[in-house]
Amino acid sequence: MARKAFIAGNWKMNMTVASGTKLITELKPLVKEAKCDVCLCVPAILIPAMTKAAKGSKIKIGAENMHWAASGAYTGEISADMLKDYGVKYVIIGHSERRQYFGENNDTVNQRTLAALKCELTPIVCIGETLSERSAGDTEKVLSRQLEFGLHGVEDVKQLVIAYEPVWAIGTGQTATDEQAQETIKFIRKKLSKMFNVKDANRVRILYGGSMNAGNCKGLMAQPDIDGGLIGGASLKLDFAKIVNFDK
Ligand code: 13P
Repeated sequence: MARKAFIAGNWKMNMTVASGTKLITELKPLVKEAKCDVCLCVPAILIPAMTKAAKGSKIKIGAENMHWAASGAYTGEISADMLKDYGVKYVIIGHSERRQYFGENNDTVNQRTLAALKCELTPIVCIGETLSERSAGDTEKVLSRQLEFGLHGVEDVKQLVIAYEPVWAIGTGQTATDEQAQETIKFIRKKLSKMFNVKDANRVRILYGGSMNAGNCKGLMAQPDIDGGLIGGASLKLDFAKIVNFDK
């Protein structure tokens, strides 16, 4: 079964109600004909207003993180049920910026991933190597560990989305080449087929993320194992529509 393309934005800590509403209002007509799934993951506090702004369009509003507990004494955190109150379906888990600045690790990624699946949210689980890990020839080892620990206990891998985001390509303008991204994502799929099974691994959508933009999206999307993109900077502008329409 062919995998449906998926273009997701990650606004990170950007936008306000006014600027986000303006962007979504302008994006709506531009993505009307999109054949892929489209999502914008936005700061939690913007979810209600952006959901309202995106109403009646192809754009689904997702979250950038969630806590694994159902409720409790976790000051500043957001639960799956709170996201579901607003119809959220997708949630980014384990972004490298959370790993780098907020103590996220493979264990907390695992807890968040299992909790999201249990609550019928679709986690977009982020993995990726740093420049020094790639230079040392450790890319496959690092990704294997992130997958083995991060997805430990997952029963149905088809229910989640993987985003391969090489840390050295995020926000740097230095995109992985089409071949580098394809080769690494092919490795990820092979690893998933060993951890789960070939049939399910072939149904998991694997996105590329890291300086993906209107200019390089066509080449990346033409690769057989790349099913979409997780877009940072370019999701803050109308260029996002060009990526969504990569097949036009
Ligand atoms: P950029 O597209 O800005 O490099 O960010 C990628 C990213 O981190 C998406 O999650």
